[in-house]
Amino acid sequence: KAQLQGKDFLQIGDFTKDNLMDLIKLAIQLKTMQKNGDPHKYLEGKTLAMIFEKSSTRTRVSFETGMYQLGGIAQFLNTNDLQLGKGETIADTAKVLSRYVDVIMIRTYGHDIALELAENASIPVINGLTDDAHPCQVLTDLMTVYEKKKQFQGLKLAFVGDGNNMSQSLLMGCAIMGIDCHVATPKGYEIKQSILKQAKEKAASNTSIIQTHDPYEAVKDADIIYTDVWTSMGFESEKKARQEAFREYQVNENLVKGAKDDYLFMHCLPAIRDQEVTSEVIDGENSVVFDQAENRLHAQKAVLSSIV
Ligand code: CP
Ligand code: NVA
Repeated sequence: KAQLQGKDFLQIGDFTKDNLMDLIKLAIQLKTMQKNGDPHKYLEGKTLAMIFEKSSTRTRVSFETGMYQLGGIAQFLNTNDLQLGKGETIADTAKVLSRYVDVIMIRTYGHDIALELAENASIPVINGLTDDAHPCQVLTDLMTVYEKKKQFQGLKLAFVGDGNNMSQSLLMGCAIMGIDCHVATPKGYEIKQSILKQAKEKAASNTSIIQTHDPYEAVKDADIIYTDVWTSMGFESEKKARQEAFREYQVNENLVKGAKDDYLFMHCLPAIRDQEVTSEVIDGENSVVFDQAENRLHAQKAVLSSIV
C-alpha cells in the first residue's frame, strides 16, 4: 500500500509490472475475503465522489458497492446535476471536491479532462473511462486472465475491433505484463501511434506488440480473444459508417477456429450480440465475460484501498 498511496489511477502505462501484480494479488485476496465474509473495512469513514459524463452499469455499481464493502461511501454525481454542467471549471470542481472527499472517480470524454482534474485535485483521481483509456477494466481483465491461466508469460491476446479506449489500454497492459498482443482493426480505426510506440517501448524484447488489419492473423493461436463495441460512447454519429467498416471484424465461430481450443473470449461489456460478437461465442463455453464483470468489484477495491 505504501507504494501507491496518494497516487492517481489514470492510465495503465503509469504503473510497473510489480505494481500491477501487487494490485492483482490484492484483488484476488479481497475477492476471497468478501466471499468468506471476512471483514475488510479498510476505508472506514472515507468518501468517493464519482463524476459521470457518460452512462454506466458496471463502473457505477461496482465502485459504489466496493466503497460500501470497504466501510466507506460513494456519491454518484451526474454532470448535468453538477455546476460543472453549467460551466464551472474542472479545476474549481477538483479543488472543491478535494475539501470534502478522499478520492474522485471520473468517467468523461477527452482524456485531458481527467488529467486536468487530477492536476488540480489534492486527492487521488481514478479514471473510470475516457475516450482514450479504461485502466480499471484492464486491471480487471489482467486479474481475470491470471485467475484462469495462472500466469502471463507465453500468452497471446488478440483484440479484434476498434482502436479505442479498450484496445489501447489492453495493449499497454499486455506490454507491461509480457503478453503478446495483436490488435486487428479496420483501416482508419487503428490505435493511436503514440500509444503503439509507448507500448512497444514498455514491452520486453520477447513480447510482440502488433497492430494489423487482418483479424485472422491476430487470432491465430491466440489464448485470448477480446472485442468491444464498434461504436463507443461519444461516437454515435459515426454508427452507420462504422457498421460498414467493421463488418469483417465480427468475432464469430469461423474466426475463433484459428485460436487455441482453450481460448478465453473476453469483452468489457456492454455488448451488442450478433454485431461485434455472435451470441454463440459470447454465450459459449469459452466466454468469461461475467467473470470479468464481477472482477471489476474486486480489482477496484484493490485500487481504492491502495491509493486512498
Ligand atoms: N465495462 C464497463 O465499464 O461497463 P459500464 O459502461 O457499464 O460501466
Ligand atoms: N469502448 C466502450 C467501452 C464501454 C465500457 C465505450 O467507450 O463506450
